[in-house]
Amino acid sequence: MSFSRLYTSLASGLGVSRRIQGLKKSIWSQTWLQTDSGVADLGQGFPDTEVPSLITEALVKTASVNWMNQYTRGAGHPSLVKALSLVYGKVYGRPVDPLKEILVTVGGSGSLFSAMQALVEEGDEVIIIEPFFDSYVPMVRMAGGKPVLIPLRPKSGQRTTSSADWFLDPEELASKFNSKTKAILINTPHNPIGKVFTKDELQMIADLCVKHDTLCFSDEVYEWMVYRGQQHHKIATFPGMWDRTITIGSAGKTFSITGWRLGWSIGPEHLIKHLETVVQHVLVSCPTPLQEALAEALLRYYELMGQPECFFKAMANELQGKRDRMAAMLQTAGLFPVIPEGGLFIMADVSALSKDLPRGNDGKDESYDYKFAKWMIQEKKLLGIPVTAFAREDSTSAFDKYIRFCFFKRDDTLDAAERILKKWKSTRSNA
Ligand SMILES: Cc1ncc(COP(=O)(O)O)c(C=O)c1O
Repeated sequence: MSFSRLYTSLASGLGVSRRIQGLKKSIWSQTWLQTDSGVADLGQGFPDTEVPSLITEALVKTASVNWMNQYTRGAGHPSLVKALSLVYGKVYGRPVDPLKEILVTVGGSGSLFSAMQALVEEGDEVIIIEPFFDSYVPMVRMAGGKPVLIPLRPKSGQRTTSSADWFLDPEELASKFNSKTKAILINTPHNPIGKVFTKDELQMIADLCVKHDTLCFSDEVYEWMVYRGQQHHKIATFPGMWDRTITIGSAGKTFSITGWRLGWSIGPEHLIKHLETVVQHVLVSCPTPLQEALAEALLRYYELMGQPECFFKAMANELQGKRDRMAAMLQTAGLFPVIPEGGLFIMADVSALSKDLPRGNDGKDESYDYKFAKWMIQEKKLLGIPVTAFAREDSTSAFDKYIRFCFFKRDDTLDAAERILKKWKSTRSNA
């Protein structure tokens, strides 16, 4: 085929598989998010805080061991799955078999991807709660499945002040289940709202899974970031749920090492073994020295679990201070935060500022939150993420007054944001 014919075929869509046709690129590839150093970046969900030295020192040590630089066991480096089984055995209150019930992947994302590829069939429906981590819909679609969305709705008649004010309507949820439903994908603590699903809410979901004999993918990458007065519950521990649940975890989120790209799936052997097949043929194995270093660190953290010095507790305490500081800062500027019960994001309702914002450079009108976020970078040098990036296009009006800010940032990053928000307030009161 001549180059020009090949080019025409590719340009007309012939070169694109049906699995990815129509999928938008992730928001993280958009150029307006590539900020310069003068912008206070509260955008993407990664901590710019110090990585625990225990972890970095372990990596230096493991990388210098010669054999550690070669392939390792495909489903997870033996010492890492062992360490994970100890930690999660405590959390689940039951033994977790390191070789059969745990799979190490490339981040929580790799865990979600392998679950979809392994367990979702062409035409299967997967229920997704909206707003959602922006990769959920593409992952279901790439597996040939059909995403069926249900929104978290704000309690009516009032401006929401807490993530607990957002709920699933029980009847609406029940109406989404049918004979084609393969799974429901839940996320607690939730990105971007920060909701920690209560025991009753999870029981309602579990009852529907059991009644309709479906799977549950439970994305718990923020499981340790839960604030005072709240408790994280694992749906896999509910009666009848272990055998039908894949629980997703992330080393990146847990230990501030998002660049290490390590995560895991935990579940029954009869499901995990299929995810293993996907991972072995796509990845072969995850990086050995990183897995060994993480295993060493996890073992140290495991010893302190339940004690006052426990890393997981200390992190949640530190984050709670940052969350409260961030909420106060947003209020100062006249924005209305929705206080999260968990996770590392805070949403703020910006509609009170009701700015008349121009169309985008290409002349297209965009949803209000996108215009607001772009204006905020340009005029205020502050980066937050428009919440409709986590929603389907035709439901944007439910979420387009919210901007999401990540508060897991160093104090000096938060100081810079605070200066901006204080100045913002003074320019508003002088206006
Ligand atoms: C809810 C949720 N799930 C999964 C992921 C992916 O985690 P990882 O970076 O470990 O792939 C993210 C990342 O932001 C997330 O917010």
